[in-house]
Amino acid sequence: MASRGADQPLRIGVLASGAGTNLQALLESVHGNEALVVAVAADKPTAGALARARDAGVETAVFPIGDYPDRAARDAAIAAWLIGHDVELVVLAGYMALLTSPFLSRFPDAVVNIHPSLLPAFPGVRAIEQAIDYGVKVFGVTVHFVLDDGGIDTGPVIAQRAVEIANATDPDAVHEALRPLEHALLPEAVRLIARGAVSRDPDNPRRIRVAGAGDDTPG
Ligand code: GRF
Repeated sequence: MASRGADQPLRIGVLASGAGTNLQALLESVHGNEALVVAVAADKPTAGALARARDAGVETAVFPIGDYPDRAARDAAIAAWLIGHDVELVVLAGYMALLTSPFLSRFPDAVVNIHPSLLPAFPGVRAIEQAIDYGVKVFGVTVHFVLDDGGIDTGPVIAQRAVEIANATDPDAVHEALRPLEHALLPEAVRLIARGAVSRDPDNPRRIRVAGAGDDTPG
């Protein structure tokens, strides 16, 4: 991650495909404090996140796949646009396209994603449906780094939060239960990164250490 002064807000770029409620949570919490959302991009013009960004005075851009020869070319264009805005951390807030090496190699250890399951359970699409079909009793959300490792939702876990739902059958109801968790956890993770509290464990780089959190104690 690029170095910056301790009192400088972390410059964030957000990628989104949907309604943008997670973007909104960032705009209403860390934005203007520890961090600044400086650029929001979507893969389709209908993404509600774009209007939320514009309302907050944040620059937006759309990168439809049809405008590029392939995904790699589209991803390189998104990366160049974000770098042009001096983005230090990329947040995937409901971005539904997979990112390729031409993007991820430009932001090493500087891309985070919010996923609606307790990873490593139920990666990929339809995570909530997968969890309901499996019959789990505890649902949850994960904020994790996205690495250029060829995997889907496989990067190191930064933060997780869970909720018990005993008899879940309705994906929409579970999603509604998870939304408040997402809207709290994503800003918390971004705040920790902005404060420099997040690092790799030298003994096992797949583990993320959070400074200030207890060692081997709950919480
Ligand atoms: C979130 O539930 C996120 O976990 C998933 O997509 C959803 C995006 O919601 N990957 P929003 O666009 O932030 O409202």
